Amino acid sequence: MNTAEEIKVWDPLVRIFHWGLAAAFFTAYLTEDDILTLHTYAGYTALGLVAFRLAWGFVGPRHARFSDFVKRPAEVFAYLKAALTLRAERHIGHNPAGGAMVVALLVSVALTAASGIATLGATEFTGPLAPYLGGVGHDIAEVLEELHEFFANFTLLLVAAHLAGVALASWAHRENLPRAMVTGRKKIHLEE
Ligand code: HEM
Repeated sequence: MNTAEEIKVWDPLVRIFHWGLAAAFFTAYLTEDDILTLHTYAGYTALGLVAFRLAWGFVGPRHARFSDFVKRPAEVFAYLKAALTLRAERHIGHNPAGGAMVVALLVSVALTAASGIATLGATEFTGPLAPYLGGVGHDIAEVLEELHEFFANFTLLLVAAHLAGVALASWAHRENLPRAMVTGRKKIHLEE
């Protein structure tokens, strides 16, 4: 068996989306409101990337599609159980747990950005929601800010779990998954 043969798994737009989202998220997280303009643009970028990925999940190539990697909860739990005992099958696209994590990350980033735009409208009187939220009182503005912080920290928690999952799957199958997200390619067969 030729173990060196590779196939294309991640198309260029998925890769640009991925590293763009990672950069936008970390930029926004690290700047918070110290550098509000940069923080805001990073947040809009993350939200735009998530909107693109939602559409790409329906019209993109095979491994980019939600139908390729969104599985029933029972399948996700069965995979997780197998993964923790290092008996999980290798998947060319996202594995069932990875698929669930993709959905969780997209939803969490979207909620973080949406609550950020609401906070911006309520506290800074700018952004698309300023006409609707500019007049809310101090208490509501504070609740929005707390929500935004909660979603940002929850996303960070998901990212930590995402990185642990990527590391575990890479180690279990002796393949470099981050490299595949850079080159777009994976080996068809792995050496046992
Ligand atoms: C240095 C940090 C990161 C590394 C090394 C990394 C690595 C990866 C890898 C290897 C995959 C593909 C997993 C697979 O083979 O199934 C992936 C997918 C994904 N990651 Fe990351 N990731 C990082 C940071 C992030 C961050 C910060 C976010 C979001 C805030 C994120 C969101 C995603 C999403 C949404 C996917 C699915 C890609 C798609 O199908 O469009 N990642 N990541």
